[in-house]
Amino acid sequence: MRRPRRNRASEAIRDLAQETTLTKNDFVFPLFLLEGKNKKSEVESMPGIFRLSEDLMLKEVEACLKLGIKGFDIFPVVDESHKDKLATKSYDSEFFYLKSLTKIKKEFPEALVITDVAMDPYSSDGHDGIVEDGKILNDQTLDILGQMVLAQADTGADMIGPSDMMDFRVGYLRNILDEQGFTDTGIMSYTAKYASAFYGPFRDALDSAPKFGDKKTYQMNPANSREALLEAELDFNEGADVLMVKPALAYLDIIQRLKSNFNIPIAAYNVSGEYAMIKAAGSKGWLDADKAMMESLLSMKRAGADIILTYFAKEAAAHLDQHQ
Ligand code: PBG
Repeated sequence: MRRPRRNRASEAIRDLAQETTLTKNDFVFPLFLLEGKNKKSEVESMPGIFRLSEDLMLKEVEACLKLGIKGFDIFPVVDESHKDKLATKSYDSEFFYLKSLTKIKKEFPEALVITDVAMDPYSSDGHDGIVEDGKILNDQTLDILGQMVLAQADTGADMIGPSDMMDFRVGYLRNILDEQGFTDTGIMSYTAKYASAFYGPFRDALDSAPKFGDKKTYQMNPANSREALLEAELDFNEGADVLMVKPALAYLDIIQRLKSNFNIPIAAYNVSGEYAMIKAAGSKGWLDADKAMMESLLSMKRAGADIILTYFAKEAAAHLDQHQ
């Protein structure tokens, strides 16, 4: 008689039979960068996650590298006074985000630095594209993204992360990078990025919520999965190095579909709301937050994620150190 429980009878056989293993090599840590010096503020809806100024960010990156985390996705917290309709600060080489990226790469060349390519942190409309008469323009936005990407590539960043869901942006940006000699700068494309309620805490962190409407004319409908394959095909053909699915937990089927159809690394973005849910329930004693964290990260890997962007990166790395 086949009795599946035999392979669960002891820790030894369970370990031997284990199909998926999470390691520190899987994690990218998203970080929020502040302008100024010696500044640190906790994101209220993301307990344990801090916005940091450059000096403290350098210490954070160093600590993470020591822990074994190698990848960092860095987002700027832009003061309202710097925002405008065309996100001009996003490609101003004197702007703190670009200066700090240069500093981070200089001090820690071994760290993999990923940038965020989208207008929303710098846009007075809080949208990822140029707004005209209430509409989000696509092709005109590409022009700004192109300037943003060249300024970011110039900092020495390893990968750029277009997170806006404009059409053609991967091909457009690949082309511009190649033309300017940045052939080694990679593109991690936010390929299947859904119009999700799980981004709430991130928008608190950056104060980047849309000033009107929502993002449904560019981010994907959560009801669709074949459309994710279409987006992936386009990004793959346009030259993306990594395809990302975002959010992760409610979209594990999408991670699996991309993994089985495209032979490049698949990333999952375990977003701010997913972090907040576990932290909130944990702090109430409604579940064991540490176990829920490891279980959800493992599920992303099992679904097919090669790379997991997660605010839990440090905690999960510490957990792995203690339990191995
Ligand atoms: C926007 C962007 C968002 C996130 C990353 N880049 C939010 C949005 O689309 O409004 C969300 C990340 C998270 O929730 O952790 N370009």
